[in-house]
Amino acid sequence: MFTRSNRRTLTAAVVCAGALALGTPTMAGAVPAQQATTLTADAGVSAKGAEKAGQKSQGRPDHAGQSGRPDHAGQSGRPDHAGQSGKPDHAGQPGPPDHAKGKGKGKGKGPGHGGGEDSTGQTQCQFAPEGGEAEGSWDRDSLAGVAPDDLRIGNIAAGGGHHSDADYPDPFPSDPPYRDHLASEYSSVTHENYLKWEFVQPEQGVYDFEQADAVVAFAEANGMDLRGHALSWHSQNPDWLEEGDFTEAELREILEDHVRTVVSRYAGCIDQWDVANEIFQDDEAASIRDSENIWIRELGPEILDDVFTWAHEEDPEALLFYNDYNVDGLNAKADAYYDLIREQLERGVPVHGFGAQTHLSMQYGFDDSYQENLQRFDDLGIHTAVTEIDVRGEVDENDMMSPEDRAGAAERYATVLQACLEVSLCNSFTIWGTLDAQSWVPNTFPGEGDATVHEGDYERKPTYCIIQRTLVEHVEGASAWEDDASFEECRGILESAGL
Ligand code: XIL
Repeated sequence: MFTRSNRRTLTAAVVCAGALALGTPTMAGAVPAQQATTLTADAGVSAKGAEKAGQKSQGRPDHAGQSGRPDHAGQSGRPDHAGQSGKPDHAGQPGPPDHAKGKGKGKGKGPGHGGGEDSTGQTQCQFAPEGGEAEGSWDRDSLAGVAPDDLRIGNIAAGGGHHSDADYPDPFPSDPPYRDHLASEYSSVTHENYLKWEFVQPEQGVYDFEQADAVVAFAEANGMDLRGHALSWHSQNPDWLEEGDFTEAELREILEDHVRTVVSRYAGCIDQWDVANEIFQDDEAASIRDSENIWIRELGPEILDDVFTWAHEEDPEALLFYNDYNVDGLNAKADAYYDLIREQLERGVPVHGFGAQTHLSMQYGFDDSYQENLQRFDDLGIHTAVTEIDVRGEVDENDMMSPEDRAGAAERYATVLQACLEVSLCNSFTIWGTLDAQSWVPNTFPGEGDATVHEGDYERKPTYCIIQRTLVEHVEGASAWEDDASFEECRGILESAGL
């Protein structure tokens, strides 16, 4: 069984060491005091923990020679990607890093970058605890604990953005139980806002990594993977950038400096980067965002090649993604990504992944071609990920959807997860938010809510339990779900909900 002994504690010193290594001007308050004392990782050795050992990275899974898990070959298990054939061969191009060669944490870094190299020549995350990144270990009765080894289940480090206007402090830095919850349920984390331009470069040439570093250190201390979000976007840019009067050459330099600075800092830490976020519009033609997106407007769509290339040069092992909403099936926007990525791969641009944000609403329909859409990107030989799923709907005075919509939302969560499980290089499934009261949904879509998988007191919703059931049945079969005492709570919740 899972034990809570042998807990590892991250101290502020880890973060300070990282900050000082890069000459960060001040590190006062780099990690709030309460955070430094409460960021812990359960390093208890359980059967599950042993199985997880050595199979950590979502972006860099060691598909060759996986061990420890029951062999589902020929069943619904995930195939061993090592030496798979049938995918287009991008050999000779800077395509996805070759995972068959083994798990890599950002190798091949040039001098002057954050992390040092380990004995195998791989870059170590400079925010990892002394002795290296912790091995994650999750209770069997958790989402990460029952996921297949090559699928990370993620959530966000909440803070910034709409939270700044709320009547509570940012959850991630201020709420230890919330952080404990993240570490105990999830194997991946995405900065909700702290890596966006307005946070990272609030003034021209002045970088502020304080909040972003703390999230990275937390993930490393808890054996979690990281999705980096986002290197270029039309939204949440600082005013100095949007309102500045820059020449093309200046803008290009600003963008290159930002991308190189941020990616190199987190080389070996961040497994997947959203390099370009939401570049297509929702019009019928899915045209490129050439007015809202400052980079595309001022520098042309060709700049996308450069952004991917700069990021790849700074961390050759990180998987580089496009990411967007409304790409939840075979539709015009998803087609636009497919055409663009295929064409970029042909030209040797280092694009490695396609992320479907998957912000769904019960007020709208849901395409039954979700899996088919992911599969066509997989067929291009690139990774896919469900990067920001939440399923919202109209809520009553208790902020709850109707029972019908709750059941429908659970079904959608399951359908999307099942699609990801079936698509071989879909390695990451991230839920965008933990508590509804803090989710971006009620703030952005007035009258809608109930989109996450936990109630306000962290009790599990039926959506949580559907996710757990889908994972258990996929990995271990229906009888494990029905018989294992670990899943009793969720069996009860689903039964009460008639699901
Ligand atoms: C949202 C955050 O959750 C909010 O806190 C913020 O106010 C606005 O952005 N697509 C994305 C995410 O790529 O960055 C957005 O996150 C949600 C939609």
